[in-house]
Amino acid sequence: MERTLEDRDRANRMFDAYGALLTAQQQHLLRRYYQDDLSLTEIAAETRVSRQAVHDGLRRALVAMERLEGALGLAAQEDHYSTPVPRSAPRTREHGVELHGRAWVFRSASGVFAHRRFDVGTRLLIEAMEVRRRDRILDLGCGYGAVGLVAAALATRGRAWLVDLNRRAAHLAQANAAVAGLTNVCVLVGDGATPFRNGSFDLVLTNPPIRAGRRVVAEFIEGAWRVLRPGGRFYMVARTAQGARTLAGLVAEQFGDTRQVRSAEGYRVYEARRGYAAESKGIAIV
Ligand SMILES: C[S@@+](CC[C@H](N)C(=O)[O-])C[C@H]1O[C@@H](n2cnc3c(N)ncnc32)[C@H](O)[C@@H]1O
Repeated sequence: MERTLEDRDRANRMFDAYGALLTAQQQHLLRRYYQDDLSLTEIAAETRVSRQAVHDGLRRALVAMERLEGALGLAAQEDHYSTPVPRSAPRTREHGVELHGRAWVFRSASGVFAHRRFDVGTRLLIEAMEVRRRDRILDLGCGYGAVGLVAAALATRGRAWLVDLNRRAAHLAQANAAVAGLTNVCVLVGDGATPFRNGSFDLVLTNPPIRAGRRVVAEFIEGAWRVLRPGGRFYMVARTAQGARTLAGLVAEQFGDTRQVRSAEGYRVYEARRGYAAESKGIAIV
């Protein structure tokens, strides 16, 4: 069964639109295959059925979603949030939320992550992160900017860099920084940590694009390690149902010691610290 980036993107978009109409078993199979990157054999072992049964279950779920898409076309109307240049006309929305004792208003838009409501994972990451006054901060995959902007506000003598592949997200983050009156923020359109030099940051924060697949998340984790100075800290949030513990394993592979600092509402936040080794251990994705 094909799992190219395009297949994954289409399956996940249809899942967003129609997932609730599928059986619990079909939802589970689609999540494990397209979001958590497990192989058919791994899913079969985990669910104690044959590999063929997993294949057939996935096929039936895809056919059901394609039928719904043929009739309703909802998935085609949505850009996936990891799209570099969303094509849909932006429908904006404002999220008012109190974080670290300050009232914030973030503008979001269609084609950007969590445009309909403020994401629970985003909030938990913000609540859990410990930001120091002079921190140089990187928000990897910043979306419309909530994580990095709150961090910038806390780092009164520091600075935050926010990066996202999605141009619309980066524009919103820039605009949200201006509305919040933050002058210690720099927003970039870019691919993960690639625009930044080794050892540039004290703190890297990410709510990673899990739907882009495990390889992209692994690149975020490796990139975070590379751009952190020795002793620098890394925070990552992930949904338990989207394989948070597996992803924490990837963080531990790269960073060594990793601890869970928060768990609520189906999400987990992990913290790791970069050691003094000069060489990256790397993450093996098989
Ligand atoms: C789960 S969203 C989190 C957004 C934001 N941090 C928040 O919590 O609201 C992940 C973000 O990563 C971005 N993204 C995906 N692939 C990327 C890449 N290779 N480089 C930079 N950003 C990427 C997506 O566009 C998306 O905005």
